[in-house]
Amino acid sequence: MVCGGVGLEQYKIKGGRRIGGSIKAAGAKNAALPILAASLLIEDECLIEGCPAISDVEKMKYIIGSIGGRIREEDGGLLVDARQIGDNGISRELSESMRSSVFTAGPLLARRGHAELYRPGGCKIGTRPIDLHLSVLSALGAEILCEKERIVCTVGKGGLTGAEISLPFPSVGATENALCAAACAHGRTVLMGAAREPEIVDLARFLNRCGAQISGAGSEKIEIEGVTALHGSRHRIVSDRIEGGTFLLAAAMTGGHLFLADADAAQMESLLFVLKQAGCRITVSEDGIELAAPERLHSVELIKTAPYPGFPTDMQSQMTAALALADGTSQIEETIFENRFGIVKELRKMGAQIEICGKSAIINGTEVLKGKPLTASDLRGGAALVLSALAAEGESTVAGVEHIDRGYDRFEERLCLLGARIERMPIEIENPSEKDWRQNGRRKDSEKKEEKKKKELPAQDHCLPAFMCTAVSSPESGIF
Ligand code: UD1
Repeated sequence: MVCGGVGLEQYKIKGGRRIGGSIKAAGAKNAALPILAASLLIEDECLIEGCPAISDVEKMKYIIGSIGGRIREEDGGLLVDARQIGDNGISRELSESMRSSVFTAGPLLARRGHAELYRPGGCKIGTRPIDLHLSVLSALGAEILCEKERIVCTVGKGGLTGAEISLPFPSVGATENALCAAACAHGRTVLMGAAREPEIVDLARFLNRCGAQISGAGSEKIEIEGVTALHGSRHRIVSDRIEGGTFLLAAAMTGGHLFLADADAAQMESLLFVLKQAGCRITVSEDGIELAAPERLHSVELIKTAPYPGFPTDMQSQMTAALALADGTSQIEETIFENRFGIVKELRKMGAQIEICGKSAIINGTEVLKGKPLTASDLRGGAALVLSALAAEGESTVAGVEHIDRGYDRFEERLCLLGARIERMPIEIENPSEKDWRQNGRRKDSEKKEEKKKKELPAQDHCLPAFMCTAVSSPESGIF
């Protein structure tokens, strides 16, 4: 097993090549994760097709496995069998391994009458509280106990009861937890102020295939008539509009011509609108979206991220990278997450001229970015750095590939098929503790403390896989 930062990888990227050709986006990460978690609600087998091959899906499989669910690959999909789930909670390590661990709360509470987990981890892009998740569960009758980082949700023998719930902000995750918990509650739930993302529609479609009665998903008002039990089903995950958008931007930034096959333009309207303003020619057909980039992108006056159908915060980093090369000054205001301009300091190393003013990035486009050693510190920011490196002069390295692996299915392989030159390679780091042993014959106090802390962690049923071990052992680095 690989621990403690050893075994990390980076990309070596040769810039200056146009990205073009034809590609199809993988299944959406943001649909696959809540749908896999929702299968915990079902005392039957479900075949989930089109799950992307990303490390977040691996983590979710691990979480489901840790409470007795079985998952195997079958017919090109994931067959989830949650008939025999146990009574245990989600361990601290697994809860903290990703934000989406919180999606298990609604399904487990509805199915077993209790759910136990720790505060979830996730990309370091903001404080990301879970108060809205807990308040919808509480509105459905759950008792919530929070002891430091541990969260215990329980409901009496009568089970959850439908309610009228109004969300003060359209949180995607809280809407998804509400759908799962209310699907099997007694009576009717009306959820007002719901998030409207296509991935929520996909979750509702999956639950309805299993026998749930959910209407209105995709609008601000979702109605759920509780049913006593759900049955197994077969479901194909909707395609990933964020991954698709990232490929479109790769072409847009490199003067390329790309066809995004099977993409649903209606789900990407705000991004396509901005791309047109930036000078790209966009042609939408039944088969997909075609983008022809100008020699140089034009600046865009103001982009504000917003809940769907607004401009997605998950495309903000990639768009910041693109506008760093545009002809003129652009402004991007981030309204969803308070700490999502992490890549700006990396882009500046390449020669980008970007100032941060409160919630906004003011981007003075420059003609050329120069290849540099770069470090990704979150998923979308990491993808944005790869795009910048593709568009830059010379060679770049992008460390922190584990962030990109969380949400992009074989990213470099697929970009290479579109003309990119990217190589994945190990980062050679000398293990500091080994070095210390060799030089001084003793370890630093901080290392001894760290080791003591690790010994005190509760024993795990399973040994964590290497990618999670890396994450758990370096929480300060933001690797999740
Ligand atoms: C989901 C997506 C993520 C995307 C985000 C916004 C998944 C797996 N992840 O994340 O990629 O960037 O939507 O489109 O689907 N908030 C609270 N309290 C809560 C919950 C959220 O204050 O209980 C706040 C958050 O801090 C944030 C905002 O609401 O500022 C949006 O969060 P939310 O919509 O819940 O995003 P996620 O579901 O975490």
